Amino acid sequence: MTEKELYITYKGVRISTQLCTEESLAYFEDFSFRPDDFLIVTYPKSGTTWMQEIVPLIQQEGDPASVQSRPNWERSPWLEYVQAPSLNLEQRPSPRLFTTHYPYSMLPPSFFKARPKVIYVMRNPKDVLTSLYHFNRMCCFEPDPESMKQFVKTFLDGKETYGSWFDHVKGWLDAEEKERIFYISYEEMIMDLNSAVTRISKFMGKSLGPEVIEKIVGQSRFTSMKKNNMSNYSLVPKGIFDFDKSEFLRKGITGDWKNHLTVAESELFDSVYKDKMQNVTYKFVWD
Ligand code: A3P
Repeated sequence: MTEKELYITYKGVRISTQLCTEESLAYFEDFSFRPDDFLIVTYPKSGTTWMQEIVPLIQQEGDPASVQSRPNWERSPWLEYVQAPSLNLEQRPSPRLFTTHYPYSMLPPSFFKARPKVIYVMRNPKDVLTSLYHFNRMCCFEPDPESMKQFVKTFLDGKETYGSWFDHVKGWLDAEEKERIFYISYEEMIMDLNSAVTRISKFMGKSLGPEVIEKIVGQSRFTSMKKNNMSNYSLVPKGIFDFDKSEFLRKGITGDWKNHLTVAESELFDSVYKDKMQNVTYKFVWD
C-alpha cells in the first residue's frame, strides 16, 4: 500500500486509514458522551493497553473476568476506530469506558458539553519513540522505519500517526476541564503501581480496600498481561501484526531509549524537547 492509501490528514493530524474510516471518524464526531463516562486518552505507546487493563479491574473491583472475557478493544473501545460504530456503545450501561488517541483539539462537541472524566497517560517521549519504532516494524500498516536516525526526525517533526507528541501532551495539559482529568505517567506506574491504582480508583470515585488494590496490581503487571490473550494482542491475525519482528507487550520498562538512541540523536531530541516544552510548568517524572 502507498503512503497515500495508508493515511489521511484529518483536522490537521495524520490518521491511519486502516484503523479509522470516514464512517468511524464521523461516528466519533457525532458521539454523545455522558457525564459519568470514563475516557482513557494517550499518545500511542504511552501506556494505553495498561490503562485498559487497570480501569476495568477497578470498575469491577478486581474481578479478573473484567479483563479476561473481552479483548481490550471491546472493553474500552477507541471511539475513532473502525469497530466503534458496530459496538452498540449507546446501549452500554453507565459508567461506560472508552479510549482515544485524539489530541484535545480534535474532541467532538459532546465531550465539552458532557465533560466525561478523563485519564490521561503520558510517557517519557524518548521511550514513546522507541516503543513506536518497534511497533511500526511489526505493524503491517505502518511503513518500516528506514533507520532510527530518520525515525527520530519524523517523530520530532510530528509526522507520525496522531501527529506531534509535543502538541498532544501540551494540548491535554492545557485542557480547561482540569478537575475532570487525571494526569499520570507510565513512569509513576512503573515506580509504584499500587499507589497509581489507588489514586486512579479514588479519581473514579471507587473506594477499594488494600486486598482489592493488590489483586488489581497483580492482574495488571506486565508478566500477567503478557499471559492474558485478551490484552496481549495475540487475537489479532498474523497478517496485521508480525510478532516475529516485535511483540506488542515488548519490554515494559523505562529508559529503553538508552539502548536505541545514539548520543547525537539523544542530544538532538533534548534540544527540540527543550524548545517545544519551554513554557510547560507541569513537572514530569522523567525531567
Ligand atoms: P514497550 O514497547 O516499551 O515495551 P500502548 O498500549 O499505549 O500502545 O503502549 C505500549 C507500551 O506499553 C509497550 O511498551 C508495552 O510493553 C507497554 N506496556 C503495556 N502494558 C504494560 C504493563 N503492564 N507494564 C509495563 N509496560 C506495559
